[in-house]
Amino acid sequence: MQLFLDSADTAVLKDLAATGLVDGVTTNPTLIAKAGRPMLEVIAEICDIVEGPVSAEVAAVESQAMLAEGRRLAAVATNVVVKVPLTREGLIATHAFAREGIQTNVTLCFSAPQALLAAKAGASYISPFVGRLDDYGAVGMDLISEIRAIYDNYDFDTEILAASIRNGAHVTAAAIAGADCATIPPDVFAALFKHPLTDKGLDQFLSDWAKTGQSIL
Ligand code: E4P
Repeated sequence: MQLFLDSADTAVLKDLAATGLVDGVTTNPTLIAKAGRPMLEVIAEICDIVEGPVSAEVAAVESQAMLAEGRRLAAVATNVVVKVPLTREGLIATHAFAREGIQTNVTLCFSAPQALLAAKAGASYISPFVGRLDDYGAVGMDLISEIRAIYDNYDFDTEILAASIRNGAHVTAAAIAGADCATIPPDVFAALFKHPLTDKGLDQFLSDWAKTGQSIL
């Protein structure tokens, strides 16, 4: 499973990318606004931090304008993936991007039929928003399982990118449901390393080791 970071904070991305465990990055207009810097500059910097796919979202709502913005974003670096909202206009643009060889991440997916349309449009990634569906009263992870079954039935190449991940349990469930990738907020990513029994066990091992008076080197 590929693990992406959902952030436009370049300092935080640099820190976590140093673990070697970050396969890509996703951003959205809210995250870019939070970064408080020009979008193209931030995206270029992120593309230098990670070699993998970096999603950069269009702001236009009409397909021709999305295509113009997406081409500009794709020109920033070879690993840019143009993020497009799951609307009729967004899927028209997705279809055109696919014909131009520009990678796309179709975002704001909340239903299986939407995901089916995105795959037919030639999306490189589909982003079902698990946490926001949970907030809405649905079981977000069920959508990942439904999309997995549909894409496998018809051998669609579109990768399932579990988004709106809120905790480690979401990451586990997305992996079990067969998501190809999950995009994870940095604080949730950092928490994945931790377990209280790991800390407790390590304290015990270090204390027992110290009693031996030995050194490995
Ligand atoms: C995905 O690409 C989105 O940027 C993100 O996962 C949205 O998550 P949120 O619901 O926590 O804002």
